[in-house]
Amino acid sequence: MKIIGLGKGIPKECVTNDQLSEFLDTNDEWIVSRTGIKTRYVCVGETLTDLSATAATDALNKANLSAKDIDLIICTTICGDYCTPSLACCIAERINARCPAFDINAACTGFIYALELADGFIRVGKYKNILIVSAEKMSAKVDWNDRNTCVLFGDGAAACVVTEGESVKYINLSSSATPNTEVLNMPNGTGNSPFAAEKKQNEYLNMQGQKVFKFVVNIVEAELKLMTERTGITPEQIDRFLLHQANKRIIDYTLARLKQPAEKFPCNIERYGNLSSASVPLLLTEMTETGQVKAGDTLLLCAFGGGLTAGTCVMTIDS
Ligand code: UT7
Repeated sequence: MKIIGLGKGIPKECVTNDQLSEFLDTNDEWIVSRTGIKTRYVCVGETLTDLSATAATDALNKANLSAKDIDLIICTTICGDYCTPSLACCIAERINARCPAFDINAACTGFIYALELADGFIRVGKYKNILIVSAEKMSAKVDWNDRNTCVLFGDGAAACVVTEGESVKYINLSSSATPNTEVLNMPNGTGNSPFAAEKKQNEYLNMQGQKVFKFVVNIVEAELKLMTERTGITPEQIDRFLLHQANKRIIDYTLARLKQPAEKFPCNIERYGNLSSASVPLLLTEMTETGQVKAGDTLLLCAFGGGLTAGTCVMTIDS
């Protein structure tokens, strides 16, 4: 499999840390030093379908394809505009695609899970051109009274078109064996069921930050070690490590453990915050647009999050 087009869709409204401190007990110094985040984009009038359709159209244009050339749409999201129709179906309607379309939920790891699925479909010859859209509207999912979480996330979408090719060399997916529901979750409620023993409303995202942080730094190290064992590719042979943009300190910790230079770990967390499953593909899109990822480069993509899940992909960039 190879990527032949990348695109993005970002809301207009950019919110600074200082704006948050106008209604929340927080400050720019805390947010920047603990996370690396300076701003995030949030939807004001845009729907997630709007952002996703923009990203999808951008990716299709870059791939020189139209919607009718797409055989399957896979969306990764925990924030779809509807429970049903899926975000993938909303995008299909908007861009006028007539192919199967569905969403998957692997939280922040979604994009790597989607790559694995797409790779499988393409390998068995079921579909040729697949559109993957990773899109999140976290502003609708966090509690804006909870400074532990709301300062971390943002809204945005990224898309890619994949087709037959040889650039994806390795994908590994994992989910933690131990129960981890309590450290990172977003509970659904009971609706107005007259039969539910205990009535529960839908709740906002809950995260025990330090516990997740520990899981993440360990799983990223384990994922990278496994990748080297299975492929023989060493960290020195990777040109760019595109890690999920959850916290700049996680990225700094990883590059120090691997003894690799900081230039190999590009970041956009300072502008976007944590975009859940859209973080890695948005970073890939921007690195490609700015020429920081170029033909011949070997990339390692690694994402992690709710589940707790993790996933790693190694790919080369074709000319
Ligand atoms: O994308 C899914 C995967 N998610 C992650 O990978 C996130 C992993 N976790 C993290 O990145 C970090 O744990 C956080 C950024 C979430 C938190 O950083 P931390 O260094 O672990 O801080 P903490 O939660 O231990 O909080 C330290 C202090 C607390 O005050 P006390 O108890 O020491 O008095 C918090 O109440 O900082 C306080 N605090 C804040 N202060 C100002 C928490 N949030 C804020 C805030 N502004 N926004």
